[in-house]
Amino acid sequence: MHQFSVLFVCLGNICRSPTAEGVFQHKVNQAGLEQQIRVDSAGTSAFHIGESPDSRSQREARKAGYDLSYIRARQAEAKDFVDFDLIIAMDLENYHNLSLLKTTRYNDKLKLFIRDYAPDLEIDEVPDPYYGGADGFANVLNMIELASNNLLEEIRGQLDES
Ligand code: 4NP
Repeated sequence: MHQFSVLFVCLGNICRSPTAEGVFQHKVNQAGLEQQIRVDSAGTSAFHIGESPDSRSQREARKAGYDLSYIRARQAEAKDFVDFDLIIAMDLENYHNLSLLKTTRYNDKLKLFIRDYAPDLEIDEVPDPYYGGADGFANVLNMIELASNNLLEEIRGQLDES
């Protein structure tokens, strides 16, 4: 049974949050922690439910050694705040929409990925790459890799030694 669970959330669940899921899952696996840490992603919108990640996100991830092909988009729901220990928004719009979905008892579970896990980047959000070019997808991947390393370190510190 998993000791800890993380849900990454963006708007469509086809670009940023599946990239975060795939990158973070890869790092969890490399650390041998897949039995301890559960990883998932979702979108605040219903636009792309059931779809695979955007081909541009998949291509950028594959070049760096991450497989996103197993992921299917789903919509975030209020129950996710019960089921997950951390809900990590990619941008402030997602953060705001998630805050409307939860009751105040779950305030501590809601985070903003870059602001809270890669503050050295001095920007708060993972920019939406959907309507931009390929360099936007590469930039998203780089930011996500950095924040994922810091997130994994933080969670490792919280896991039982057993
Ligand atoms: P994501 O990117 O939130 O990173 O998955 C987007 C995907 C689709 C749309 C917007 C952003 N869309 O408007 O359909």
